[in-house]
Amino acid sequence: MRGAGFLLLVVFAVAVAGGAVAAAADLDGGDGGGGVAAEWRFPSSRMRDAYVALQTWRREAIFSDPGNLTADWVGPDVCNYTGVFCAPLPWDRREVAVAGVDLNHGDIAGYLPPELGLLADLALLHLNSNRFCGVLPATLRRLRLLHELDLSNNRFVGRFPEVVLDMPALRFLDLRFNDFEGGVPRQLFDRPLDAIFLNHNRFRFDLPDNFGNSPVSVIVLAHNSFGGCLPASLGNMSGTLNEILLINTGLSSCLPPEVGMLREVTVFDVSFNRLAGPLPSAVAGMRKVEQLDVAHNLLTGAIPQAVCELPRLKNFTFAYNFFTGEPPSCAHAVPRYGDRRNCLPNRPAQRTLRQCAAFFARPPHACSSTVFP
Ligand SMILES: *[C@@H]1O[C@H](CO)[C@@H](O)[C@H](O)[C@H]1NC(C)=O
Ligand SMILES: *[C@@H]1O[C@H](CO)[C@@H](O)[C@H](O)[C@H]1NC(C)=O
Ligand SMILES: *[C@@H]1O[C@H](CO)[C@@H](O)[C@H](O)[C@H]1NC(C)=O
Ligand SMILES: *[C@@H]1O[C@H](CO)[C@@H](O)[C@H](O)[C@H]1NC(C)=O
Repeated sequence: MRGAGFLLLVVFAVAVAGGAVAAAADLDGGDGGGGVAAEWRFPSSRMRDAYVALQTWRREAIFSDPGNLTADWVGPDVCNYTGVFCAPLPWDRREVAVAGVDLNHGDIAGYLPPELGLLADLALLHLNSNRFCGVLPATLRRLRLLHELDLSNNRFVGRFPEVVLDMPALRFLDLRFNDFEGGVPRQLFDRPLDAIFLNHNRFRFDLPDNFGNSPVSVIVLAHNSFGGCLPASLGNMSGTLNEILLINTGLSSCLPPEVGMLREVTVFDVSFNRLAGPLPSAVAGMRKVEQLDVAHNLLTGAIPQAVCELPRLKNFTFAYNFFTGEPPSCAHAVPRYGDRRNCLPNRPAQRTLRQCAAFFARPPHACSSTVFP
């Protein structure tokens, strides 16, 4: 998915939803501050707009570029700039447009100026591992063809950038390792995204009940402060979901039996939460699961034998819970010490009898969909 590279033609073909974008009054690619020399002839107004956008970025909004990636951002031929990729427009192959900007691992410091909304034909914007800060300009909603947005490992702040909800072609959204905070709008899970990475931010919200509407194949929400339940609607993702990582997100419900409907899932990780109750035997419905991690929760009861007999299970970790039974068939899938710190009889490195007794004397509330305090 990430390795898709610059299949720009494909991306364009998928992304085009009907052609040109009307120029908005709030952004004008006119002479402005772009420093357009009078004698330069741009092949089209879109290339002139791209020039203004990139020059404004370089001159006004980039403060440090230690790798000199933008050092050759000079002159009217923006297709020659490092990190800028052009491709023919899918609806008119005689005309070329800026289709991608990739400054990954540039260590560039700066911000995203509103003029980037002039890059109306952009299909990919990859800025991972830089020092861009601030908030996303609202003008990015003009990127009607944007398919992949990777802003990971930067210094973006503020509330969830709602502008991404207005990008009709967006399929890949990567905001991980930033300082976004606050809630995540429920509409995110109604968008036709294929991948969502929000991990390592400061988001705080309960997973909404429409979570299962999301057609993603990969969703990583780890290391944020959510709370509440794993929604039963998760079962609606059965045909599409491949990987889900909810590590350390503050979940404090039970595992709903609907998780067993995730027949395509290969990685399921809900470790470091406060999930309670049993591991439902329905989990055996995850026929393709390879990595299953429920460690560091408050789970109880016996590990269902059918789970350990899942045909592709390679790494099943459930350390640091309060399980009381482990069938012998688990041996092949549980790594060394992957079952430690439970209440398992005859297994090494378990909790003390006293710890187990204290827990079972006051277990968390009975499981419905209740949230534990
Ligand atoms: C970038 O350019 C500056 C000034 O020309 C030079 O000193 C520096 O070594 C260059 N850095 C790299 C990584 O090429
Ligand atoms: C763009 O790059 C090509 C190849 O490096 C070069 O031949 C061409 O002159 C450049 N065009 C401009 C306008 O700089
Ligand atoms: C999604 O899941 C919920 C809860 O399991 C269910 O009530 C609803 O009918 C499902 N919707 C679809 C479209 O499958
Ligand atoms: C199993 O998964 C855990 C975390 O989910 C990881 O730390 C461990 O390295 C994995 N072990 C193997 C043998 O793949």
